[in-house]
Amino acid sequence: MKRDIISVLDMKDDFEAILSNAAKMKKEPKKGQKPQEPLKGRVLGMVFEKPSLRTRVSFEVGMAQLGGRAVYIGPDEVSIGKRESVADVANVLSRYVNCIMYRAFSNQNMRALAKHASVPVISGLDDLEHPCQCAADMLTIMEKKGKLAGLRLAYVGDGNNVCNSLMLGAALVGMSMRAATPKDFRPNPELLAKAQEIAKQKGCTIELMSNPFQAAEGADVLYTDTWVSMGQEQEKEMRERLFLPYQVNEKLAEKASKNYIFLHCLPAHRGLEVSAEVIDGPHSVVFNQAENRMHAQKAILVAVLGR
Ligand code: CP
Ligand code: NVA
Repeated sequence: MKRDIISVLDMKDDFEAILSNAAKMKKEPKKGQKPQEPLKGRVLGMVFEKPSLRTRVSFEVGMAQLGGRAVYIGPDEVSIGKRESVADVANVLSRYVNCIMYRAFSNQNMRALAKHASVPVISGLDDLEHPCQCAADMLTIMEKKGKLAGLRLAYVGDGNNVCNSLMLGAALVGMSMRAATPKDFRPNPELLAKAQEIAKQKGCTIELMSNPFQAAEGADVLYTDTWVSMGQEQEKEMRERLFLPYQVNEKLAEKASKNYIFLHCLPAHRGLEVSAEVIDGPHSVVFNQAENRMHAQKAILVAVLGR
């Protein structure tokens, strides 16, 4: 049976093992040691319907470090659903590559690609989730705080794909999360219910609210993302107006715990979802977080493709 990683829930049974393997692989190869190449000879096909810096480069370099290689397939080459059906793309790619990484506009296409592909499919983001980002986020928090369970995470802004995956990831590791969003921009209700069900078993809570100051109160981790996700460009003006009270700035950060860390999946927009003081300030760990995309994804690739 192949293993797809489309949701954080696809890592529910071994999320912490993936994170600790990522932390271990980050330290390899040790000085004087030959690099291990568990994916020697394997090829990852990377299908992008949207732009990317981190996802593309971290997967490509990650595969090279694991002994394999990656092939980039951009929006102009495939144009899924227009030039060719998602099923045909899945079938064809499965004959060439050992694994597909897909950045899609819709979760529906993501699921269709995974259904028709005979090789594993890893999500590089869709409109519902960003699971690899969440793994990198948790790895970063673990490194900076020394633990995950019992911490308090405040997400402030748009209840988007990144927020959806964070709710699931936080619940899985026993971290409490408060998400403050305008009421019409709440995270996905089904994923919220799932996260709350897991949180109950793990002894933590996942709560939604409208007040960013209430969410940030005592938080160990402050997290925000763009107010205008890829594909929402036509709503830019409306969103930038509506989300203004949700900016993560020094005033909001004063509510957080003294040693809080600031995370953002990037790309960031200084002066909009986050002030320059916060993202460029001493609490920000956004570049460690970006680096950790690669380490987390290497562990995910090994979990999917095997040693
Ligand atoms: N955080 C993230 O996924 O970045 P890219 O869009 O640059 O890949
Ligand atoms: N929510 C953002 C994340 C970018 C990495 C988007 O979907 O565009």
